[in-house]
Amino acid sequence: MLRRPRRNRSSAAIRGMIRETHLSTDHLIYPFFIVDGKNISEEIHSLPGNFRWSLDLLLPEMEACIKLGLKTFILFPGVAEQLKNKTGTYGYAKDNFYLKAATEIKKRFPQICLISDVAMDPYSSDGHDGLVADGRILNDETLPILAKMAIAQAEAGFDLLGPSDMMDGRIGYMREALDEQGFTKTGIMAYSVKYASAFYGPFRDALDSAPKDEVGIPKDKKTYQMDPANKQEALIEAELDLTEGADFLMVKPALHYLDVIHMLKENFELPIAAYHVSGECAMLTAACQNGWLEFDKAMPEALLSIHRAGADAIITYFAKDYALLTNK
Ligand code: PBG
Repeated sequence: MLRRPRRNRSSAAIRGMIRETHLSTDHLIYPFFIVDGKNISEEIHSLPGNFRWSLDLLLPEMEACIKLGLKTFILFPGVAEQLKNKTGTYGYAKDNFYLKAATEIKKRFPQICLISDVAMDPYSSDGHDGLVADGRILNDETLPILAKMAIAQAEAGFDLLGPSDMMDGRIGYMREALDEQGFTKTGIMAYSVKYASAFYGPFRDALDSAPKDEVGIPKDKKTYQMDPANKQEALIEAELDLTEGADFLMVKPALHYLDVIHMLKENFELPIAAYHVSGECAMLTAACQNGWLEFDKAMPEALLSIHRAGADAIITYFAKDYALLTNK
């Protein structure tokens, strides 16, 4: 045998020398759920280790994460039911607690990159990412609402906006609106290829944002989020977002869509982000809690795989765990 690949695996020194993929906290984006109020840190039952935070308790938690080397955070609002309506007006209201929190966070930690969520579902009494009328999700009528949210978020100080709504044409619409208002420095991390996935369950529990089970309201998001069976279509979505002015292209979920991440990385020059979603993290946590998998080994392997597939940035509920592990 002239070729013996095992020679290059024979010691930790050799393995380290030829390792192809390196993952660090630089690549990780840590999601936080924020609610209005004080002294709240409520654990999400279907996503153990993750909480709904009020700002006063979130700030010290963020500080601890920053000390561990995390630099980028994505914020999602848990909105009280009485503030929701059909048009999601609280999303850009002057007294919106989420926007005020972002300003406070950026004042306290100006060095971090703070990412928003642009979509109607946290604010919509129908629980959809767009406007619902006659049992349908309206596209073009949703765009001005998203643009208002985007401008309010840029004003609040978010560095990157994260449109997760999957309406057609929203990146270009938002980009133009932002530029007209002078927010040329605010970037867009587009949820370009977002699938109608069963793995968003714990997230919807966290925000109580699932489509409402009422007559006239579609039960799922299949008319705007992509069919998990499709891959070619991802190229169309990514191409549109690129030409409409996105700064990042995102694939979501991540672990079940590594082929799509890889395809985008091969075909586009923009940085690729991947969202390791709530259900993907929850299933690993559950297996570890049962003693079926070893967290400190399975978790980094999952994140490394997403990075190896081609994701430059990874949104993951394990960001702090990974930072803790690598700081040991
Ligand atoms: C909605 C949104 C969802 C997630 C992020 N933004 C859920 C959905 O589309 O219903 C899911 C993230 C996760 O599961 O971790 N705009």
